[in-house]
Amino acid sequence: MRKHDVVVVGAGLAGQRAALAAVEAGVDVAIVSKLHPLRSHSGAAQGGINAAVGAEDSVDTHIYDTVKGSDYLGDQDAIEFFCREAGPTVVEMEHFGTIFSRGADGSLARRAFGGAGFPRTIYAADRTGLALLQGLWERLGTERFTLYEEWELARLIVRNGRVQGMIVLDRKRGEFEAIAAKAVVLATGPAGRIYGRTTNAHSCTGDGISAAYAAGAFLKDMEFVQFHPTALLESSILITEGARGEGGFLRNAQGERFMSKYAPHVLELASRDVVSRAIVTEVKEGRGFSGPYGGYVHLELMHLGKEKVESRLQEICDYCRHFAGIDPVTEAIPVYPAQHYMMGGIGTNIQGATNLPGLFAAGEAACVSIHGANRLGGNSLLETLVFGKQAGIAAAAAAKSAATPEMHPSDLEEATAPYRAWASRAEGEDPSTLRTEMQQTMDQYVGIYRTEADLLEGLKRIRALRARFQHVRVVDRAKVFNLNLTDAIETGHMLDLAETIVVGAYARLESRGAHSRIDYPKRDDAHWMRHTLAQKGPDGPVLSYSGVAYTRWEPKERVY
Ligand code: FUM
Repeated sequence: MRKHDVVVVGAGLAGQRAALAAVEAGVDVAIVSKLHPLRSHSGAAQGGINAAVGAEDSVDTHIYDTVKGSDYLGDQDAIEFFCREAGPTVVEMEHFGTIFSRGADGSLARRAFGGAGFPRTIYAADRTGLALLQGLWERLGTERFTLYEEWELARLIVRNGRVQGMIVLDRKRGEFEAIAAKAVVLATGPAGRIYGRTTNAHSCTGDGISAAYAAGAFLKDMEFVQFHPTALLESSILITEGARGEGGFLRNAQGERFMSKYAPHVLELASRDVVSRAIVTEVKEGRGFSGPYGGYVHLELMHLGKEKVESRLQEICDYCRHFAGIDPVTEAIPVYPAQHYMMGGIGTNIQGATNLPGLFAAGEAACVSIHGANRLGGNSLLETLVFGKQAGIAAAAAAKSAATPEMHPSDLEEATAPYRAWASRAEGEDPSTLRTEMQQTMDQYVGIYRTEADLLEGLKRIRALRARFQHVRVVDRAKVFNLNLTDAIETGHMLDLAETIVVGAYARLESRGAHSRIDYPKRDDAHWMRHTLAQKGPDGPVLSYSGVAYTRWEPKERVY
């Protein structure tokens, strides 16, 4: 059986940073990744990474903006740690080889981002995630760890209350294998494909979050789902907040810069939950444009001029030209909000430790929590690096003192029995049908604005899909890259997670950050200033609640 001290699952920024920290701590490290590391979803992050550098900005302002952006649900001890690490993290990445954009004086260029009191988003044109990924990959050095590339996590093995390893599918050979590990770091990214309208890559199916949940880990604050205000109509490709940071305007069909009604001080640079709600409201109230892909508003960059648009927003130009047939230098971009980020995830402390000994998590798969009810743009890339490093350090330390993992030869056989059953059925449910119905349900009933009636309907439908999933059938007998099988595994993961989102949203009787209940329109600190914890029970998620950590910032009304 394959054995390692630390196995990191996921090779995006959080996974690579965790692996680097563990390698540097001197333990034997492996990375399991269902994609080539440089194709990880971190590479899709466009706009930038936040850090208060330079005399005009301050770490305290970054902390305050993040606390306020979180609608006071972020844990302030974690946020303080996170923002203090920001400057050193960016400098370290530059030393690793990331080439950031520069100002005329040669200093790091910074742009404005939503909800930030200062333009502190450092960037590499509009492909910052990719630039960071390349720098880190070179630093990590492939000779220092084992890479299981195009291997996909199926489940974790827990024995004696401790994670002992995992069962993974080598997609290239179509074989399941067991890997024993003294410590596991889950850095598998988000589960955005639970929704149909999402900026997330097809790979974002929540594998690690679901495996942790199935193994007994607490998921935290799953009801808080971020919708990015400006996704390209039809394809939902991200149009970076950097476009508004560079001076882009939003206009409705009546030609109004409507954000003046919703965020009179900062307009388009309010936080994402505010801007997304504003767009949806404009469309619902008949002031949007309409077309075959539904209502939308315009994002205008034309006034910025060709030179600025083409140099600062190179990818955006390409996406608009190739996927929408429009030129953003001369034409407005049709946009509508799409699912973009999950504030919730596997509950961890600042070191990435979960409630399960031997299990750590980092990046979007985790919830520390620094984003609370709403994440600020530019804090996600930073989160991957800051907490990826912490998780790698902690996992290496745990591995050094851990006993030999207890994996049994029967683990592989037992864990893969369901997959054999799926393949042996003469009749059954098609996973892609279940996936599509799940996505339609989440788009329609668990979106930006929520009501009790919608959430109940959403829950009923998700539970019916979970019941149908018990009869899922894999018809493709191929071994090599059997996408029918991986679709079934991933759909199972996502259905479990969808249920935690709906159950958490139904229970939270208030509006806070990205969770906007029409029937409970106010934030209710007296009852709901608390984190939701979901643990897997026999009949679905069992909810409990935990307190929010405060240091210096008293909750107050959030106005932009
Ligand atoms: O709009 C963006 O470029 C996205 C950035 C982020 O999610 O942090």
